[in-house]
Amino acid sequence: MTTSTLKPTLSVREAIETRRSIRTYQDRAISREDIHQIIDLVRLTPSAYNLQPWRFHVVTDAALKEKLQSVSYGQKQVTSAPAVMLMVSDSEEMMRSIPEIVHFGLPAERKEQEIKSLTEMFSQMTDEERSAWALNQTNIALGFLLVALQGLGYASNPMLGFEPEKVKELLGLPEHVTLAAMVPFGYAASEGYPHHRLETEKLVKIHG
Ligand SMILES: Cc1cc2nc3c(=O)[nH]c(=O)nc-3n(C[C@H](O)[C@H](O)[C@H](O)COP(=O)(O)O)c2cc1C
Repeated sequence: MTTSTLKPTLSVREAIETRRSIRTYQDRAISREDIHQIIDLVRLTPSAYNLQPWRFHVVTDAALKEKLQSVSYGQKQVTSAPAVMLMVSDSEEMMRSIPEIVHFGLPAERKEQEIKSLTEMFSQMTDEERSAWALNQTNIALGFLLVALQGLGYASNPMLGFEPEKVKELLGLPEHVTLAAMVPFGYAASEGYPHHRLETEKLVKIHG
């Protein structure tokens, strides 16, 4: 069970209702310990076969944030925020982690079978299919991250407005990984825009 020593937490409902994309931040650092606690929570995100392809890179270095901003069409939230999370989807790391992930409670023989069948299943996919599969899972963690940050008292802004190959180069990430999002986060210095969403009736059909 993960416990947090961060600020008082919001309920899930409060976190979802109050979260907005925030693009200006207070000049207030986030400690390494708090960053670890955020990720400690987000890593509990579920994934198919429990394969957990997400990896987290957090940039707090001012010079590196400047460089990230320059490959993010100059979006100012990248340097305004004290920390910038890169949500990385790594299908190769995912494959390497299979033996560690397959349920520890299984008898040795079943475990071997499970490792073999999962490895075979993913080996039959093309690299593109495997990356797309992993990215689907990583996007679940992105949703969890946004709610977790808000619930723990931080503001954030999910971003896809950046040049992925240049971001990868700046962070020294391997060619095969996919960036699910860049997420500047910290303490809000503005309120963001009110929610503007499609009506529930338009989105749902209950069969029954
Ligand atoms: C995957 C994703 C990528 C986004 N990319 C950007 C971006 O590059 N720049 C930006 O300012 N906002 C970006 N946004 C924020 C959206 O514009 C915002 O979430 C949407 O308008 C709803 O507003 P809200 O987040 O304040 O509720 C992105 C959001 C998501 C989920």
